[in-house]
Amino acid sequence: MDIIIAEKVNKKFQLKQGQNINNNGVASNQIEVLSGFDLKIKKGEFLVLVGPSGSGKSVFLDLVGGLSNPTSGVVYLDDKPVVAPSSKTAYVFQQYALFPWRTALSNIEFGLESRGVLKEERIKIARELLSLFGLSDFEDRFPYQLSGGMQQRVAIARALATKPEVLLMDEPFAALDAQTREILQNELIRIWEGTQTTVIFVTHSIDEAVFLADRVAVVTARLGKIKEIIEIDLPRPRNAELRSSNEFAANRHKVWGALKAEVNKAQQVWKLAPVFT
Ligand SMILES: Nc1ncnc2c1ncn2[C@@H]1O[C@H](COP(=O)(O)OP(=O)(O)O)[C@@H](O)[C@H]1O
Ligand SMILES: [Mg+2]
Repeated sequence: MDIIIAEKVNKKFQLKQGQNINNNGVASNQIEVLSGFDLKIKKGEFLVLVGPSGSGKSVFLDLVGGLSNPTSGVVYLDDKPVVAPSSKTAYVFQQYALFPWRTALSNIEFGLESRGVLKEERIKIARELLSLFGLSDFEDRFPYQLSGGMQQRVAIARALATKPEVLLMDEPFAALDAQTREILQNELIRIWEGTQTTVIFVTHSIDEAVFLADRVAVVTARLGKIKEIIEIDLPRPRNAELRSSNEFAANRHKVWGALKAEVNKAQQVWKLAPVFT
């Protein structure tokens, strides 16, 4: 069953007065980001989006999360068009985005508070999640007292606390060092494999995409649409050893094959006609 369907999605932004982009030699104060963007995501699937910078990946996540609406076309969640943020979706961003005045435990409790979950139950859920991420000894620490990796674990735990149907992850590990990043990928996949949550995960790392994904969707350079979807035929549960296997290398090769033309194209476009950013 498809939980998310993007159908003929188009997204344009109106620029402010005096801001123009060069559209094939014609100045325009509208920027078209997505055009003919079609994608179906199965319930419980781990879908990874890769594509050049500026191809509209974050814009697409915002549409799924209901933070903005398409200019035309529709994004369906559970067969209903998304028009506003929903309690079915949760976000994890690249920046840690924790509340600095709340402890780790209380950050995780946050979404449960607004749903009226009682204190005792909130603490139980939050402690279970802290334990899953190996953070039980850190529940009373404030974000500034935690490493980047720990903060991002808390951010993921906070997002999972409300048992979202869809978890939107926008380059969540991009700011972490390589080792911490691999450790968090291992933890995320272990925890996700025990849930029914559908994940849309954006990354620039092909290794990360292959390690995590059921399918990798490659987004074209502007105008953004899905160029190709690559099934990752690696067994689950996945573990760290898989990374050095031949199958892993073969999948990485497939993804890079689809992506490299788009990355080159994006660089060409920027050279010819610098885009307003
Ligand atoms: N609110 C906005 N107003 C104008 N342009 C925007 C806005 N949000 C995004 N864009 C433009 O849309 C394009 C895609 O952005 P984004 O989705 O962030 O790319 P990425 O694939 O790197 O996540 C970029 O050119 C960006 O400048
Ligand atoms: Mg982005």
